[in-house]
Amino acid sequence: MKFLVVYMFLGAFLPYFNPGCEALKYQGFAKDDESGSKFVDVKNHVRSRRSINGSEASCTNGNCTEQVQINHRYYVSKVISDGQRYWRDIEGHPNSTTHPSLSNQFLGRQKLRLGFKFPYYGHYLDSVVLTTGGFLYMDVHDTSLITDVQYLAPLMAYFNPSLSVNSTVLTLDDGEQLTVQWRNILLHNKTNVGPFNFQCTLHKNGTIWFAYKQVPVSVDSLPDLKYHPVRVGISDAFVILRRDPVRPIVYRVFFTYSQINITKKSVINGSAVVFHPLPS
Ligand SMILES: *[C@@H]1O[C@H](CO)[C@@H](O)[C@H](O)[C@H]1NC(C)=O
Ligand SMILES: *[C@@H]1O[C@H](CO)[C@@H](O)[C@H](O)[C@H]1NC(C)=O
Ligand SMILES: *[C@@H]1O[C@H](CO)[C@@H](O)[C@H](O)[C@H]1NC(C)=O
Ligand SMILES: *[C@@H]1O[C@H](CO)[C@@H](O)[C@H](O)[C@H]1NC(C)=O
Ligand SMILES: *[C@@H]1O[C@H](CO)[C@@H](O)[C@H](O)[C@H]1NC(C)=O
Ligand SMILES: *[C@@H]1O[C@H](CO)[C@@H](O)[C@H](O)[C@H]1NC(C)=O
Ligand SMILES: *[C@@H]1O[C@H](CO)[C@@H](O)[C@H](O)[C@H]1NC(C)=O
Ligand SMILES: *[C@@H]1O[C@H](CO)[C@@H](O)[C@H](O)[C@H]1NC(C)=O
Repeated sequence: MKFLVVYMFLGAFLPYFNPGCEALKYQGFAKDDESGSKFVDVKNHVRSRRSINGSEASCTNGNCTEQVQINHRYYVSKVISDGQRYWRDIEGHPNSTTHPSLSNQFLGRQKLRLGFKFPYYGHYLDSVVLTTGGFLYMDVHDTSLITDVQYLAPLMAYFNPSLSVNSTVLTLDDGEQLTVQWRNILLHNKTNVGPFNFQCTLHKNGTIWFAYKQVPVSVDSLPDLKYHPVRVGISDAFVILRRDPVRPIVYRVFFTYSQINITKKSVINGSAVVFHPLPS
């Protein structure tokens, strides 16, 4: 197993926090922890590219307050333009579940317990968070940064399932794999391009499939909105909590150490993306 050792000094990163943005966000996040402290979430990227194989350390200003070990080599991804065999037909399946609350919401999310433990970047998840935006959030933190950290995104975009009665978010978990399908969903600002239909499947052995049935527009041409990026790929972060010694604030710093971007041009009707976890 190969590790990257990262040392960090929290204070060095706090200036990056950008407060007070009241733009549209995913609904219903806890703003406080149990003790009544306010959460302040900060995101950061781990930039040390030079230590891909190593256990190289880096300290900032000599202040090394934490040591974290992370798995650094993760997945091999493959794009298949003729990938219909990765599509799972769950629409008519008797055991599939439609999620009415998500199907009638914009910027909605909902926790889903898994029928199996899913290995994601080498750690096991019991649950994921479904969203209306074409992606899953792959951790338990109640954070509004879900579009930026720890996402699994067949097609993250500003979809609004509440715009059409034909839009649904449905899942099928058979204990070996979970398929999540965003069916006939429309873009919030661009309903005229027509409905999208795509899914992702998480397999018990860690393999991830993205499959696209209907993509009516070049995904490459969709701009990021201020409150909602457009992304295809997977990402993981580790999280450090720090209580402010004086004020009732808990800083939650999300360090993104891996972001696998899939080129948006490969997202077309009938295509698929497969991620195989590398043995560690
Ligand atoms: C990392 O290790 C692999 C084999 O384990 C080797 O092929 C590769 O060149 C190494 N990369 C670096 C940057 O040292
Ligand atoms: C960080 O280093 C500075 C000086 O090098 C020191 O004054 C400060 O107390 C250190 N902070 C922590 C949290 O150790
Ligand atoms: C639906 O789930 C039940 C209980 O888990 C199982 O026995 C049955 O085989 C499933 N049906 C199909 C069509 O897979
Ligand atoms: C829903 O689907 C039906 C049948 O495909 C279609 O006739 C209808 O126009 C659709 N409704 C909306 C709001 O898109
Ligand atoms: C898209 O919708 C959002 C929220 O309704 C709005 O703030 C934004 O200006 C819109 N963008 C465009 C390009 O229409
Ligand atoms: C994991 O499961 C998928 C789907 O069943 C399969 O295609 C893949 O070969 C499996 N990978 C391994 C390493 O067994
Ligand atoms: C994808 O399929 C839909 C119908 O299923 C079609 O309207 C659309 O033009 C197709 N898009 C491309 C890029 O082929
Ligand atoms: C992935 O894309 C984002 C922009 O969406 C970019 O900021 C990031 O650097 C890219 N990551 C990699 C590893 O290419």
